[in-house]
Amino acid sequence: MEFGKVLHGGDYNPEQWLDCPEVLQEDIELMKKARVNCVTLGVFSWAVLEPSEGEYRLGWLEEIIDRLYENGIYTVLATPTGGMPHWLTSRYPETMQVREDGGRNLPGRRHNFCYTSVKMREKTRQIDQKLAQMAGKHPGILMWHISNEMGGNFSDSACHCEQCQQAFREWLRERYGTLEALNKAWWTVFWSHVYTDWEQIHSPVPRGECLLHGLNLDWHRFVTHQMTDFLKWEIASVREYSALPATSNFMFFFKPLDYFKMQKELDVVSWDSYPAWHKRKDEVPVAVKAAAYHSMMRSMKKAPFMLMESVPSMVNWRENNPLKRPGMHMLSSMQAVAHGSNTVQYFQWRKGRGAFEKFHGAVLDHKNGENTRTFRDVAGVGERLEKLDTLIRQSCNQPKAAMIFDWENWWALEDSTGPRLDMDYQKVFLQHYRAFWEAGIDVDIISMDEELEGYRLVTAPLNYLYKKGYAKKVEQYVKNGGIYITTYWSGIVDETDLCFTGEHPLRKALGIRQEEIDAPSEEFSNCVVYQGKEYPAGRFCEVVYAETAKAAAVYEKDFYKGMPAISENHYGEGTVCYLAAEFGQELLNAFYGECLKQAGLENPLAAKLPYGVTVSERKGETNLIFLQNYNEKTVEVEGSGSYKEADTGREWQGRIEMEPFECKVLVKK
Ligand code: GAL
Repeated sequence: MEFGKVLHGGDYNPEQWLDCPEVLQEDIELMKKARVNCVTLGVFSWAVLEPSEGEYRLGWLEEIIDRLYENGIYTVLATPTGGMPHWLTSRYPETMQVREDGGRNLPGRRHNFCYTSVKMREKTRQIDQKLAQMAGKHPGILMWHISNEMGGNFSDSACHCEQCQQAFREWLRERYGTLEALNKAWWTVFWSHVYTDWEQIHSPVPRGECLLHGLNLDWHRFVTHQMTDFLKWEIASVREYSALPATSNFMFFFKPLDYFKMQKELDVVSWDSYPAWHKRKDEVPVAVKAAAYHSMMRSMKKAPFMLMESVPSMVNWRENNPLKRPGMHMLSSMQAVAHGSNTVQYFQWRKGRGAFEKFHGAVLDHKNGENTRTFRDVAGVGERLEKLDTLIRQSCNQPKAAMIFDWENWWALEDSTGPRLDMDYQKVFLQHYRAFWEAGIDVDIISMDEELEGYRLVTAPLNYLYKKGYAKKVEQYVKNGGIYITTYWSGIVDETDLCFTGEHPLRKALGIRQEEIDAPSEEFSNCVVYQGKEYPAGRFCEVVYAETAKAAAVYEKDFYKGMPAISENHYGEGTVCYLAAEFGQELLNAFYGECLKQAGLENPLAAKLPYGVTVSERKGETNLIFLQNYNEKTVEVEGSGSYKEADTGREWQGRIEMEPFECKVLVKK
């Protein structure tokens, strides 16, 4: 998606200040000073846009959009379903969610709506179409921002009302056709839970059936389906009057919703990033997590994404809310760009005087106008983005390595009982991702549904569930020369969480035979020797037998001493590596270092990076190299070539000096 410029701005909620024209006047003046060229309007404006049912007041909004546009500031226009007005919830309580315990929510908070409710859809369509009639004609509006962080309110994110139960049953009928097929897929004969009527099926809840893995997995799928259906409903509603592109802001790896599925309805992916900087002195784990999230957002469409929200200062909702240390605002913003964002946007422009987010960081504080450190930081980012505008827009990351991250795998893996109860997909995934981050290698993060061709290396940690056709795809990929890496507890079940029988679906390609998995306590920790060095192994140690594979590391202890802990198998033109045990970061870094060598991948500086420093690259007519230092101290990077900083023109030959929390944007000379 190309907007003609890199967007800088964020959520603007002027409905809080409609009785203070001087504030609105000042906003525009200061936006220009902060180099803001775009705001998101209307995210939570329903009660002001439609103060009572059917009474629409859009004039104030149109006036603000006009004024912004006259001043060179574009609008991303939101539909207001993130927050429900009281007239709606009190007149039509069925529009609110029913919790797992069967109780209906009371009005308030956000995203409290039932996405199946016919009434909710009717009311949504009416307000959305009023907005679309206005937006369809307005040159100042760039795109639609549908709702806000869908599903992000209550921990469950789902609605369990009767309309949802019926919709779930219909969805299951379509998926399975017959109850017989469903019973088989869910293995309901165990514990005598065979369904004999569709009406007997209920969403999984703690006071009822919630231990049937097949049911739980399908419920997760249904929740994504139904939320996506609501999203489609909103997009279709505005499209009748406006052809503008649409996005909806995602959140991190948000377990309740399969973003890979949802994103298909969007023209551009956007997301809200709130990394917990300064949580510890060591910023690396936080930087790694944020980088992984950014990378996934880019990988969804293999195209630039939008950083829709970030905080210009500190958030108010964590236990500790440290201020961003000097340099961190720029670094955090540039990190998003480094991984493929073409926008830097904030929540929110001006702090409100009351309610839940009055102490949440904003570009403008309650006091001091433009005379704040935060304002200067923001203006600094705006200025830098203006300088880099064309270079950013002509480029995007094009990784040659990919990681499989799949929601269905996540749901199934963590729901299943055994081999441990504390299965943590995200944690393990991020450990593997970190090995690439520390090496300065960009990766795409893709689901099992994506093509693997084109990547030199693909890794799929903890890939417990295999979707239909996945094993075949991997085999083909490896036969054609790809390097595929996977770990213990992979390829265990099919799409309905039924265990594969006979043999591992990738047995030939792996060149090993999987037999048992040991999940002992720490007292029984094992260790392995890899390339002459000893590393710990524990928590999970799979006992596997090498067939055609060679052992690259073996267990050093216990009754399975001497058996492969890391194996490597040449298959067709490619190679498959299997990590049979859970390893720490040090071994993962060493192991992936070898794999990257084999794949012929090195970072764009061809340098060994100091701790806390990484690099990523946007390729285009001019390649942009983003060198990032997450240390609060100066470090030196021993590069070999000569580089020029794209925005300052400063030149570097060989050694590059990095200030604390600095991001340099380099072009090779
Ligand atoms: C986001 C949300 C915003 C605001 C922000 C505060 O999740 O979309 O509306 O609440 O958090 O950090």
